[in-house]
Amino acid sequence: MIKDDDLCWCKSNKKYQDCHKEFDLKLDEFRKKGYLVPPKKLIKNETQIEGIKAAGIINNGLLDLIGENIKVGMTTEDIDIITRKYLKENDARSADLNFEGYPKSICTSVNDVVCHGIPSKDVVLKDGDILNVDATIEHNGYYADASRMYLVGEVKEPAKRLVEVTKECLEKGIEVIKPWESTLNDIGLVIEKLAHKKGYSVVEEFCGHGVGLKMHEDPYVLHYSVKEPTYLIVPGMVFTIEPMINEGKRFIHIDYKDDWTVRTNDKKLSAQWENTIVITENGAEIISK
Ligand code: MF3
Ligand code: CO
Ligand code: CO
Repeated sequence: MIKDDDLCWCKSNKKYQDCHKEFDLKLDEFRKKGYLVPPKKLIKNETQIEGIKAAGIINNGLLDLIGENIKVGMTTEDIDIITRKYLKENDARSADLNFEGYPKSICTSVNDVVCHGIPSKDVVLKDGDILNVDATIEHNGYYADASRMYLVGEVKEPAKRLVEVTKECLEKGIEVIKPWESTLNDIGLVIEKLAHKKGYSVVEEFCGHGVGLKMHEDPYVLHYSVKEPTYLIVPGMVFTIEPMINEGKRFIHIDYKDDWTVRTNDKKLSAQWENTIVITENGAEIISK
């Protein structure tokens, strides 16, 4: 049993009684009430959260820079080149590069590509395309992960609407979070509800995830609802929400040509927005967007 004067389990170097003691007592109350409470390994300390925030600032700067450079006629390889140069200049590294053999520094997913599109000289951005750029970077050992949709030239209404509704799905998923009250399932529930109301489907094979000390950590953050109990959301958790919403059916496949590119089976459009968030006593704070 940890004593009041012992150092806290969160490695803050503070005494337990001045750090997570109250937190643990509160967590215990919720456990007794029947909630599934998150294990300690899902809780980050202040130093770690500061580090992840610094990574988030760099990640946001990258996605801003890419936004300024998107134009008709460029290739997705150009986006990878911008990424490599920017990360070098900002003392950061791509977490994607060499991850399970992934060959590039960022993911670029156009139109019917759901996620994990590989930057290529052969993919030229055309007027009317919708593009997701997903960046995960590491800085000083801390990770941040975010993606945005970019409109290439003049994008027509049905595609624009998908992009906007998908963003709204992410925003609703963040807004619903009330620490010490919501569970992860509440996030999936609001996202699924909005997507279906608008006539869209939710991809189920990929989900949000813990992030910070690695690119992918526990827990899974589903974008649809489930019957099983899910974790109570409490301060110190850091995770992504990253709904992939399809214009048509939810079904997808991985392109056999590269074993990475994920496409919709019906060739209809797919959109995704991703933020990294940290849970505080007051709600969810966006770290990377
Ligand atoms: N950024 C992705 C995510 O949101 C992970 C990409 S892994 C890669 O989880 F290997 F495809 F780059
Ligand atoms: Co992610
Ligand atoms: Co990502």
